[in-house]
Amino acid sequence: MADATSLRVKELPSAEVQKNHVLTLEEWQDRWVTRNIGFHQEQGNRLLKKHLDTFLKGQSGLRVFFPLCGKAVEMKWFADRGHTVVGVEISEIAIREFFTEQNLLYTEKPLTEIAGAKVFKSSSGNISVYCCSLFDLPRVNIGKFDRIWDRGSLVAINPSDHDRYADVILSLLNKGFHYLVAILSYDPTKHAGPPFYVPDTELKRLFGTKCSIQFLEEADALEERHKAWGLDYIFEKLYLLTEK
Ligand SMILES: C[S@@+](CC[C@H](N)C(=O)[O-])C[C@H]1O[C@@H](n2cnc3c(N)ncnc32)[C@H](O)[C@@H]1O
Repeated sequence: MADATSLRVKELPSAEVQKNHVLTLEEWQDRWVTRNIGFHQEQGNRLLKKHLDTFLKGQSGLRVFFPLCGKAVEMKWFADRGHTVVGVEISEIAIREFFTEQNLLYTEKPLTEIAGAKVFKSSSGNISVYCCSLFDLPRVNIGKFDRIWDRGSLVAINPSDHDRYADVILSLLNKGFHYLVAILSYDPTKHAGPPFYVPDTELKRLFGTKCSIQFLEEADALEERHKAWGLDYIFEKLYLLTEK
């Protein structure tokens, strides 16, 4: 059993085999059209549920960011606790489904900073979802965040974009931030991704200079859809990143 307070050193296979695999924004949008959205968790993420109080630390009025949010139901969990939630998602279908399925009235308006982009806002004003690429988001002043929940986000980013992903994420962190990230461990020779296999060493390479990285928990995540990809194991690993 690894030391729960430090980054684990035991490594699984090399992620090298996936490094040039790319999914385009159009392919992601198409997944929503063809309903290839097996990643969506209707009940939310069980590891987040378990660690939610540790993550929030009893603080109120936090700004919480959801990169690559899809229609993650957890956005509502935070809003219901009085926090302000901001997400970014390339698929307009996903965003509309989020508000409709959560019974939230919303408004939409174009973003002047990014051609073709929009922002969707709940009528209570505490959930905003930007419909654009995460990589274009720095052109909009969305402020800094006290918390980031990253599930299905770092693992969905093309490996060749990891560095610029880390740059965007780090630019959004407020002093005293807590950045909770779930990564996946499986044999990358058996599935091309996404989700991509993100080794612990990659997390450390991307964020270790600026953040302290604490391993929280590893959970068996194997579902039928993973077996259909040819996998016989897949683990979800939760890490908490804080200011160094
Ligand atoms: C694996 S899904 C995860 C969604 C969500 N985080 C969840 O846990 O259900 C990744 C999502 O990111 C969106 N996406 C992919 N690349 C993106 C990008 N560069 N900018 C914004 N959204 C993106 C996809 O449309 C998809 O909904």
